[in-house]
Amino acid sequence: MNAFSFHDARRAHKRRLSWRVLAVLAGLAMSGTGQAGLLQPPKPVVFPWSNPALRPGQRADLVMQRMSLAQKLSLVHGAGFLGLPGSEPSLVRSNGGAGFVPGIAQLGLPDLNMSDSAVGVANTADKGRYATALPSALALASSWDERLAFQYGSLIGAELADLGFNVSLGGGVNLARDPRDGRTFEFMGEDPILAGNMVARVIEGIQSHHVIGDVKHFALNDQETGRMFANAVIGIRAMRESDLLAFEIAVRQAHPGMVMCAYPLVNGVYSCQNRYLLHTVLKKDWGFKGWVISDWFADHSTVRAALAGLDMEMPDGRYFGAPLQRAIAAGRVPMARLNDMVHRILRTEFAVGIVDHPVVPEVPDIFKGFRVAQRVEERSAVLLKNTGVLPLAAAKITSIAVIGSHADVGVLSGGGSAQVDAPGGNAIDVKMPPASDLLARLRIPVWDPSSPLRAIRRHVPQAQVTYESGSRIAAAVAAARTAQVAIVFLHQHMMEGTDLPSLQLPGNQNALVAAVARVNPRTIVVLETGGPVAMPWVKRVQGILEAWYPGIRGGQAIANLLFGTVDPSGKLAITFPRSSAQLPRASIVRPPGPMPKPFAPVLRPPFAIHYYEGQDVGYKWFDARHERPLFPFGFGLSYAKFAYADLHAAVHAGRLTVSFTVRNRSGRAGTEVAEVYLGFPARAGEPPKRLIGWARVRLAAGASRRVTLRIRRLYLSIFDVQRNGWREFPGRYTVQVGPSSRDLPLKFPVQLR
Ligand code: BGC
Repeated sequence: MNAFSFHDARRAHKRRLSWRVLAVLAGLAMSGTGQAGLLQPPKPVVFPWSNPALRPGQRADLVMQRMSLAQKLSLVHGAGFLGLPGSEPSLVRSNGGAGFVPGIAQLGLPDLNMSDSAVGVANTADKGRYATALPSALALASSWDERLAFQYGSLIGAELADLGFNVSLGGGVNLARDPRDGRTFEFMGEDPILAGNMVARVIEGIQSHHVIGDVKHFALNDQETGRMFANAVIGIRAMRESDLLAFEIAVRQAHPGMVMCAYPLVNGVYSCQNRYLLHTVLKKDWGFKGWVISDWFADHSTVRAALAGLDMEMPDGRYFGAPLQRAIAAGRVPMARLNDMVHRILRTEFAVGIVDHPVVPEVPDIFKGFRVAQRVEERSAVLLKNTGVLPLAAAKITSIAVIGSHADVGVLSGGGSAQVDAPGGNAIDVKMPPASDLLARLRIPVWDPSSPLRAIRRHVPQAQVTYESGSRIAAAVAAARTAQVAIVFLHQHMMEGTDLPSLQLPGNQNALVAAVARVNPRTIVVLETGGPVAMPWVKRVQGILEAWYPGIRGGQAIANLLFGTVDPSGKLAITFPRSSAQLPRASIVRPPGPMPKPFAPVLRPPFAIHYYEGQDVGYKWFDARHERPLFPFGFGLSYAKFAYADLHAAVHAGRLTVSFTVRNRSGRAGTEVAEVYLGFPARAGEPPKRLIGWARVRLAAGASRRVTLRIRRLYLSIFDVQRNGWREFPGRYTVQVGPSSRDLPLKFPVQLR
């Protein structure tokens, strides 16, 4: 039995036993002493709701019949966190994650231990625990690979459970309205249908391990600057067809246990007390059965929030603790609303399985983590430019100059609550600011220990491969001048709490690459960025690989892609603009007065961000304005070459079926992401086109495949504000198919009635 099947077998065994184990534990708790139990195993206490054959809702009903008011109230808010004044004594039981809600042992209800997990289980180092640093979520989205997204989520779910967590705080799906948003790397890009489907698979992967998943941040937390009091102003149709559509797809398809309401106000009302968002849209229109959890300190009221649909306040109970109890006593919040909150929480606990399958901590499977992280990066990196210099012919290479971005020791990661601690700490030596200056500490970029230099050397053992840090341009130029190939690594660090000042690469990096390209005609750039950057040197270099934040096996994956051991197959899930002037807002909107400190939970009078571009996010904006991007949405090269032919589209019973043929017209195997867009009739008032489907097609040299896609009705519909619902707009449509949003050689008209 190899290590992996052993691991799987243990997990299966764990699952079979688990709900009995819980019942035993509950028995101990109820008997008040474990003493007798140690001598003679107690009979497992089986509660009326222990029967997994009952429906989750029925089980929740049964628990609630036995609950006191105090017990109910204890479930609807967090207990605080270490160091937070007013935290509850129960916090001693916390597993040390971002959030903790004590369970009720007498009723067999487990503690809720929550950990951030956007790109892997976050911030585990201070507990001395290992977690896999995955490539960024935007990287994953750029794979357009839903099975891979499930594996990404499944790895996160498995490691959360191994590390003792039963609730995940990940699932970020805020649309990339502004590429300078400091959390762009945590989210799934600019298209709601791609983002919604990808995040849905991640959530399914997480919940397959009986860990409660979430989507966040609901809604329109699309920039970090002034996030606690920004007021997102946008029309109903525009938001339903853009940001909210990504959430709708995730909620309807993946049934996440939680939706996290966001910091900003939406159309004048804080998200966590926004009845339109929480009640009308999420719970009524989408039928969401889970619970609404507030972002940390995003709740600002008791009665308003409770009546609007907030079900759990985090991280503590400043509004949903004693004040909620008083509001219920005074009749300002009906008991039925509290019962609904509790029922949603309990029902979800049963539905996802955290009661029947309590977490049993064990050591994460590091090697499985490595394999998944590498696979994700190899399918996510996007080859943006190749004049023919790539793939590097290993056998013919005698010298390479590797330059910049600590490529000798590591690869960059994104910061904030999504920060995954690399084992052994930062790959570079940094003087850490004192522990008292948390913000300064958070700002330090972490380089995951995966050395591109070492991985490159492994491909060309015969060659001389040198490394220059890039801090002195003259030294880098000297190294590049004498080398056959120069590979320049460029980076841009992003983190939660702040936005990027511009799209420019920081420091001397633009000058560095320009100088290197001047002396070496075979200069290749590898980008380690959270999102798009400007590339004033784009014409001067021969190859560009966007590697994103590439995760714990980033070095190996990048080398495999450069040498063609793996064919690049990622496609941009976000538009790369030429300059900020092309964006809806030339710069990030700032509140009046001094800039608020990142993470400071300070409230000020709201300031408006007018999302007047509406549903025209990303490529839709560029299409509508006839702007030519630097690299369009959906773009990415392969070492193979593909041709498209024979598009056919037909509508039967409201459902659109699209088929076409993709052929590999090159002499090497490769994978193509084929993209399907829909052009609406002009009167529909839609953006020029909408992505409605895609397929990842792996093709041997010379092979071809007929692809058939059945498109969901929702993706053909427009949101009708009067009717508060989706509907089809009759008229003539154009189905368009090809390799990117700006290269759609096949077109086919269809009529919708
Ligand atoms: C972030 C959330 C995160 C939470 C808990 C907040 O500051 O916005 O994404 O889950 O903290 O760490």
